[in-house]
Amino acid sequence: MKTLFESTTIGSMNLKNRLWRSATWMNMADGKGHLTDRLEKVYLDLAKGGVGTIITGYAFVLEGEQPNPGMLGIYDDSFIPGYRKFTEKIKAEGANIIMQIVYGGSSTSFQPENRVIWGPSAVPHPLFKVVPTEMTKGNINTVITAFTQAAARAKAAGFDGIQIHGAHTYLFSQFLSPYYNRRQDEYGGSIENRARIICETLEAVRKEVGPEYPVFIKMHCSDDWEEKGLTEEESLYVALELEKRGITGIEFSGGNLDTQNYPNAGPARSKILKPENQSYFAEKTARIAEHLNVPVISVGGHRTPEKLEHFLNTTPIGYFSMSRPLLSEPGLVNRWKNGDLGKPRCVACGKCWGEDGNVCILDRKQR
Ligand SMILES: Cc1cc2nc3c(=O)[nH]c(=O)nc-3n(C[C@H](O)[C@H](O)[C@H](O)COP(=O)(O)O)c2cc1C
Repeated sequence: MKTLFESTTIGSMNLKNRLWRSATWMNMADGKGHLTDRLEKVYLDLAKGGVGTIITGYAFVLEGEQPNPGMLGIYDDSFIPGYRKFTEKIKAEGANIIMQIVYGGSSTSFQPENRVIWGPSAVPHPLFKVVPTEMTKGNINTVITAFTQAAARAKAAGFDGIQIHGAHTYLFSQFLSPYYNRRQDEYGGSIENRARIICETLEAVRKEVGPEYPVFIKMHCSDDWEEKGLTEEESLYVALELEKRGITGIEFSGGNLDTQNYPNAGPARSKILKPENQSYFAEKTARIAEHLNVPVISVGGHRTPEKLEHFLNTTPIGYFSMSRPLLSEPGLVNRWKNGDLGKPRCVACGKCWGEDGNVCILDRKQR
């Protein structure tokens, strides 16, 4: 019988429990993407609150290319000393700290008119309506190099690993989707071609950081978007290709942002108070995980520890990550560990986002 609170290892990483904080953009970094005291405190509170492994909010790999304000950056070496001090503090509290790295692209409402925004093809994002510039092969190489350098910086700064952001309609997940990716060259068409940029990035990153350094990816188990999106079968194909190229583990999210036609089909869903509506990607994720050898982390609507232990003992999912519940209640993991299995404070109201920082609405008035 496996439990949420037993310790495990993934390669060189020791994990004191099976609960992770999934990447969460806090909108608290400074204008250039550097840490602030306020943001550092968020991570320290999470580490003190018992979560075994923390993935940072997404960090942008090319200067000026950021889909949101207040994001962390990792686009030059000036970040390394600050992050080094930061990772030491988090690790001293007993948590692992992994940096998520991203190229955003057209999934943005942040100053889109002032920036060059690349995408697989020049088609509008269904939610943000931003039309990116179709990438040349030179642009693709620039992005791959930027990810590789970002990974090297994260390693030098003491992060326990990195996570490539391949989900949520940011650039890499757009390449996987037949809607966003209409390319006729070797980066479009078949799933083999649509996955090429991610495979090449992983190969380049691996070469840079070595065979042992933990390199994860967050990707979709399915876009739930019929012929426009990545299907479950295609997701399995991509996962197997990444496995061949040395991915350390895969976090499966999912969904699409075609909110007009598919309301509440995104990665962070509402109406999940009832346990049967929770853990909404776990069944698909489990079906994919049956065919994989690397550790699988499931994200999306996890709220009930008994339900997670059920998945843990009946499927190959080994880890569960949460965003909103820990944004609202950083001490949730210790609470569960200490036997109080009551519901999370988060009710998935969808109001975490704020211009002066992403905090639970229940805490807003107190500031
Ligand atoms: C405020 C906020 C910021 C988020 N930022 C990121 C991010 O930086 N990278 C990412 O992959 N997902 C991000 N997500 C999505 C979460 O990691 C997660 O996939 C989603 O919220 C579902 O999990 P949950 O039900 O535990 O919240 C964010 C979600 C929220 C609510």
